[in-house]
Amino acid sequence: KNIAVFASGSGSNFGAILEAIQCGELEVKVQLLVCDQPSAYAIQRAEEAGVPTFVFRAKDYSSKEEYEQKICALLTEKNIDLVVLAGYMRLIGPTLLTDFEGKIINIHPSMLPAFPGKDAIGQALAANVKESGVTVHYVDAGMDTGPIIAQQSVIVDEGETKESLQKKIHEVEHKLYPSVISQLLKGERRTESEKTSIN
Ligand code: GRF
Repeated sequence: KNIAVFASGSGSNFGAILEAIQCGELEVKVQLLVCDQPSAYAIQRAEEAGVPTFVFRAKDYSSKEEYEQKICALLTEKNIDLVVLAGYMRLIGPTLLTDFEGKIINIHPSMLPAFPGKDAIGQALAANVKESGVTVHYVDAGMDTGPIIAQQSVIVDEGETKESLQKKIHEVEHKLYPSVISQLLKGERRTESEKTSIN
């Protein structure tokens, strides 16, 4: 099976996926990294791993439709089975959703539906919650609103800082994401709503 990873930043989740592949835990080929930030560290990770990249700047295109058409063509050409968003800081538009809805997943650093959108970790700390976590979900047109595939909680300790909570969350993400990708591609995991409609 083939996946494409979309990232905008450091790409530590992308790195964890590459490692899981290397050690045989995840049987998949990363055929493409899509990145909208030419200086992102994720691009370097791709180059080191020999993963082809499509790097673009949104401002070089006249519309989201225009660059998403280009991305769609690449995904189709490379026979992508699953699109994996890993810190990709753009909403997916109708152009990509029309062809790939149900095949795009995202990882978010909170227990959705709590704290969607930017700075979920800061939001959780500001709300003084005792527990937060990580959600893997399908992507729809909304901001972090698609059907939930998997969640894992983390304890928020007394005196927790943004850095310490981020570290805990990343540790969970780096294990959870490769394993969920593997299960999805093997057909071993369905969303809660799919399970209900089958039983
Ligand atoms: C992760 O915490 C993920 O949940 C969120 O963005 C962050 C990306 O981190 N969507 P990285 O670039 O994979 O290190």
